[in-house]
Amino acid sequence: MNPFKSLRVFDENGKVTPRLVEARLDELSAGEVVLQTAYSSVNYKDALAATGAGKIIRSFPRIAGIDATGTVISSADGRFKAGDEVICTSYEFGVGHDGGYSQVCRVPADWVVPLPRGLTLFDAAALGVAGYTAGLAMDLLELNGMEPSQGKVLVNGATGGVATLAMDMLAGLGYHVVAVTGKDAEHAYLQKLGAKEVLSRQQLEMGTRPLEKALWAAAFDSVGGEQLAWLTRTMQQGGLIASFGNAGGIEFKTTVLPFILRGVRLIGVDSGFTPMPLRRRIWARLAADLKPRHVNDIAHLVRLEELPGYFERMLKGQIRGRAVVSLL
Ligand SMILES: NC(=O)c1ccc[n+]([C@@H]2O[C@H](COP(=O)([O-])OP(=O)(O)OC[C@H]3O[C@@H](n4cnc5c(N)ncnc54)[C@H](OP(=O)(O)O)[C@@H]3O)[C@@H](O)[C@H]2O)c1
Repeated sequence: MNPFKSLRVFDENGKVTPRLVEARLDELSAGEVVLQTAYSSVNYKDALAATGAGKIIRSFPRIAGIDATGTVISSADGRFKAGDEVICTSYEFGVGHDGGYSQVCRVPADWVVPLPRGLTLFDAAALGVAGYTAGLAMDLLELNGMEPSQGKVLVNGATGGVATLAMDMLAGLGYHVVAVTGKDAEHAYLQKLGAKEVLSRQQLEMGTRPLEKALWAAAFDSVGGEQLAWLTRTMQQGGLIASFGNAGGIEFKTTVLPFILRGVRLIGVDSGFTPMPLRRRIWARLAADLKPRHVNDIAHLVRLEELPGYFERMLKGQIRGRAVVSLL
């Protein structure tokens, strides 16, 4: 096989730097399935990993990218054969194992999901870890009883990847979505994706009492920190919070009162290590009832060469929606 383009992350005297390189198959981490990558994407975790802003990658050099969609070139595992269209995300992909910012990927067969009917390789990358996380959060809250009739659903970090997809899914299922964003110029965009109300992050009146006015039946939290604390104080009786993000900080302070007086449930969402049967079920839903209706408004294309600058903008919270990286 000819050499191919990859974005490899180096640790040079403590400075973590992503660089475009020519790679060869025998340099990639081991695995049974070799893919011709079609698309990858950019997640917050990719930006943390590839810049060293978060200690995500532990051994260098490493090809980054926690998402890939593509076509199987060869498989030493009977579950896959050449020509199959597949998705690879999560586990150690792009972290402890070479990832998706590469025209060719080699991965363990246990990490590979067949592309569900109803999604293209582009759609699946536009969803990627972000869409999977939004879908998993939705599924977990539904299992806990979330329904449109119960009231408003708050989505914060609203212009972000997980949040835009979550809003699109929620609005498609008839939920009254309230978006919180730090970007005042994007209110119309969020309404187009299905938000019924848009609140400005800078103007939120958070209060300080252990229980504030009960406003939300459910919440999708990309942010953590003060906003998650505020959510715990403002949930309705039996309110459900999906906590999956830390864009605003990893610590939050609250009291037990929301939990013991309002029965609020704080539900953790980890996309990385869900078992394969659940993973396949969520992907099947992402191709069916949770399929976003505004993928073309949410996703934009970015070239491999542009990624280093893109990561910096993402870490500053300057990105809207989902970046799909074309490897074709
Ligand atoms: N648990 C999991 O398995 C899992 C999976 C995927 C992602 N995540 C996490 O979920 C979060 C969102 O991921 P993503 O890929 O959607 O990232 P993203 O596209 O960068 O979205 C994050 C959004 O959060 C808001 N934000 C940024 N900095 C903020 C700050 N200091 N305070 C408050 N809001 C801030 C911004 O939206 P506005 O400007 O509109 O407010 C930004 O667009 C990240 O923390 C990521 O690590 C977790």
